[in-house]
Amino acid sequence: MTHVAFQPARFGALQLRNRIVMAPMTRRMAGEDGLATDAIRVYYARRAEQEVGLVISEGTGVDSLHAHDTLTVPRFETPAQHEAWRAVADAVHEAGGAFAPQLWHCGRNAADPIGPSGGPLPPRHGYERAPVRAMEADDFTQVLEAYRCAASAACAIGCDALEIHGAHGYLLDSFLGPNNQRSDDYGGSPEARMRFPLEVVRTVRAAVEAEFPVIYRFSQWTLSDYGEQKWTTPDELGQWVTALKDAGVDLLHVSTRDALDPGFAGSEKTLAGWSRELSGLPVIAVGKVSVTLSMDQAYGEERDFVTDPAGSLALIESGEADLVAVGRALIANPDWVRVVREGGWRDLKAFDASILADLH
Ligand SMILES: Cc1cc2nc3c(=O)[nH]c(=O)nc-3n(C[C@H](O)[C@H](O)[C@H](O)COP(=O)(O)O)c2cc1C
Repeated sequence: MTHVAFQPARFGALQLRNRIVMAPMTRRMAGEDGLATDAIRVYYARRAEQEVGLVISEGTGVDSLHAHDTLTVPRFETPAQHEAWRAVADAVHEAGGAFAPQLWHCGRNAADPIGPSGGPLPPRHGYERAPVRAMEADDFTQVLEAYRCAASAACAIGCDALEIHGAHGYLLDSFLGPNNQRSDDYGGSPEARMRFPLEVVRTVRAAVEAEFPVIYRFSQWTLSDYGEQKWTTPDELGQWVTALKDAGVDLLHVSTRDALDPGFAGSEKTLAGWSRELSGLPVIAVGKVSVTLSMDQAYGEERDFVTDPAGSLALIESGEADLVAVGRALIANPDWVRVVREGGWRDLKAFDASILADLH
């Protein structure tokens, strides 16, 4: 397949051999003390060996207090954790790929949950959960410091970029959505709701070298409400994405469940396309590339089938996206890039949730 997606590209300091991104996917296989293990290194390096342009890691917790939901999630806090990620970045580089860790704070969904506002949480997977504690001044300082340290380390250990996880209802996203009931400087108006996520961006920006690429991932949907609509019009979205750009974000990662879904009623343009147009920033599109089920359906009885990724890859040619991230299909097919590039998408293996049991 001769597609622009498979040609080299450059976004500021981020030099890539193609425009295919491995989407961040939590695998819950960290070693003791939150370390990325040899198996994790081999798993990411395998995708880079098989031609993935940019590998974004699974969400990695920025601290050991409230950032993770289970201790099986790797973290990005201590020197030992940084060295373990350095080994991953080195291995990805050796295989010709670029590497960005995803810096994650679970917020309301953490094992010890904090958020913009407090309150009880419904049980998840049959387990009772501790109530959310509303963040106080010290919590804001602590979270910013955790992001500052993690960002500075990501730059120091030789990563090519970093991604701030601002999507899916986790800490930063929860400031934008209905779980933010604050009436101080961090709640109420759209500007006040954006304040804390933007403080994180500015803190990260100041902690890394001037040219170091900062990616921000955001979504309309959250884990507790797949239909959530934070931005109901392009104007509202425009306010958000230009604020991210002004705070120092270099690339947007627009997390949609289907990359081809229209962003707003009345136009076919995708949320990635709108975000690109409204911000002028390069954009990563994601969702259902070469799979039939959206990620929230992938764990049920329904079987997934392989589909032609050409429509998603064409978002690059139509000017709606600059990069395309592939999630589940890359877990099922470490060689996804080569297979699709050579025109053999029909030979891809279908995703099945049972393959999440192992790193391969
Ligand atoms: C097993 C699994 C784990 C995921 N973990 C994360 C994560 O840590 N961070 C994140 O931003 N998104 C996460 N996602 C969402 C994916 O990055 C991606 O957006 C989603 O799977 C849609 O892409 P796909 O249809 O190609 O799988 C996860 C998805 C899956 C299937």
